[in-house]
Amino acid sequence: MCGIIGYTGPRKAAPILIEGLKRLEYRGYDSAGIGVGCDGALTICKKVGKIKDLREAVPDDLDGCYGIGHTRWATHGGVTDVNAHPHTDTTGNLAIAHNGIIENYLILKARLEAEGITFRTETDSEVIAHLIAQHYEGDLEAAVRKALPLLKGTYGIVCLHKGNPQLIIGARSGSPLVVGVGEDEMFLASDVTAVLAHTKQVVYLEDGEVVVLTEKDFHITDLNERKISKTIDEISWELEEIEKGDFKHYMVKEIYEQPEAIERACRGRLDPTQATARLGGLNLSPAQLLDVERIRIIAAGTSYYAGLVGSYLIEQLARIPCQAELASEVRYRNPIVERNTLHFAVSQSGETADTLYAMRELQRKGSCVLGICNVVGSTIARESNGGVYIHSGPEIAVASTKAFSSQVTAFYLFCLLMARKRHMSYETGEWFLQELTVIPEAVKAVLKTEPVIKKLAKKYAGYKDFLFLGRGINYPVALEGALKLKEIAYIHAEGYSAAEIKHGPIALINEETPSMFLVPDDRLREKVISNMKEVKARRGKLIAVVGEGDDEIREIADDVIEVPRVHTLFSPFVMVVPLQLFAYHCAVLLGRDVDQPRNLAKSVTVE
Ligand code: AGP
Ligand code: GLU
Repeated sequence: MCGIIGYTGPRKAAPILIEGLKRLEYRGYDSAGIGVGCDGALTICKKVGKIKDLREAVPDDLDGCYGIGHTRWATHGGVTDVNAHPHTDTTGNLAIAHNGIIENYLILKARLEAEGITFRTETDSEVIAHLIAQHYEGDLEAAVRKALPLLKGTYGIVCLHKGNPQLIIGARSGSPLVVGVGEDEMFLASDVTAVLAHTKQVVYLEDGEVVVLTEKDFHITDLNERKISKTIDEISWELEEIEKGDFKHYMVKEIYEQPEAIERACRGRLDPTQATARLGGLNLSPAQLLDVERIRIIAAGTSYYAGLVGSYLIEQLARIPCQAELASEVRYRNPIVERNTLHFAVSQSGETADTLYAMRELQRKGSCVLGICNVVGSTIARESNGGVYIHSGPEIAVASTKAFSSQVTAFYLFCLLMARKRHMSYETGEWFLQELTVIPEAVKAVLKTEPVIKKLAKKYAGYKDFLFLGRGINYPVALEGALKLKEIAYIHAEGYSAAEIKHGPIALINEETPSMFLVPDDRLREKVISNMKEVKARRGKLIAVVGEGDDEIREIADDVIEVPRVHTLFSPFVMVVPLQLFAYHCAVLLGRDVDQPRNLAKSVTVE
């Protein structure tokens, strides 16, 4: 959930750690801290608030060339300076930063307290520092190794000791860690964005691995001290991609990157001669693809809504039964795994605990789980049986936007591939490719409506409750629109199938509850128009997202947002963008922290 950074090398550690934390701030951002070792001393600085608050609290003359840093998303214990990481043992000789949750911390804490240790924080993480200290006899790596088996739960840990200059130890179980291999300097981080300014050479750690960093080298072993040799990977992202450029927020930058993101997801994967798609990473033979009788998609949040769009499309065009489900529910339902069922785990970060654990459970039951991920080398990407990288480039804003469009694109490609293997004709395949190819331009055209949407945001940002309503393949888009407004503008919003409102939600309608209807030109249009009229009859305000020149809806709705007319099956691409922009402008007008909304974190690595 949080961000971790470690550094050892010839340079002053503090500025490197703080810069790294700044890049990680999107992962968790209620408080932060660093611990720096120098000449047998260890200095800790921690602060509630943003990294800029920490930067001010760190003395300019803080020397020391090895250190660790952490940006926190509190799980156990309030958001206070004391509870911020790093945490030290009672002597203050060693410090740790931890990402995750130690589930048995109460038992460990009681035992340590009985042994005379006084705890200073309310966190679950502090036990780690005391346990390592108890086993420390001059060899930090050995002490960490002895402490790890005592911990239950999830962790990414970095650790240093003032008696072991230039030494950083890391360990992971359920929370990501990656080594950044610099020139005569080493980094350890929870996310490649933290090291990208210094090196593109990285090594991903697996669960159960321990890494030892010295100034010029690193080595990785498992818990039984067996040496593990790893390949060094090259990060494909560029530094500019993780900078805001001229945009005010990452979120709006990423909304604007969608045409490019859709193109990138398609690049090299369209096969016009066969009128199909090529997805080499699936690792499935043509025969295995033909054997697929059912598809189940698991994911959380926005990725789940992208999966829902995929399920509508796949059933309709590939004619394969397909369900999208919340990963958190699948995991604990003792899921039934049938023969010839293909699973997809969809995750931008590739680290979402709910999705990862559900994927592992499905794999334990013998199913093939493919990943649809953005972050290369992420846990879901590595542990899945194959899959599709969406290549959106880094998504920094907590509210996911471009990853949604790219995930949806991946499903369109997969659907085409499967449909062409079954009953879709060559001509229909050509039509499909044609429709998909014009989508980036259509999305560009939607982006041009931003001034209209900004005006609407001014008119509606003061309302406290919203309904988002769509049907068919746009029902998930309505859910996504409501989620966006909730998470960044903090406006209560519910997404429903437009047909459902008469079964309950219509009770909420009055002049204080506007409804955002998605009305493409499809066979359910007349039914949606009836739903709009039902709302209007109850004095509910109506905003409608419609195809260009839809005068009929203009007559009914209070406000309309026009998007280019594309085939209904492709309409989620153009329908979602106004909803993202609407949420964005409402949030800006209400003075919200758009990129780092309260209580949220980009990557949810706890259950
Ligand atoms: C999206 O705006 C949210 N912040 C959140 O719902 C997110 O989509 C969810 O946590 C899943 O993340 P993932 O795609 O990285 O697995
Ligand atoms: N559980 C720890 C805490 O609450 C770590 C949380 C995090 O991953 O940021 O301090």
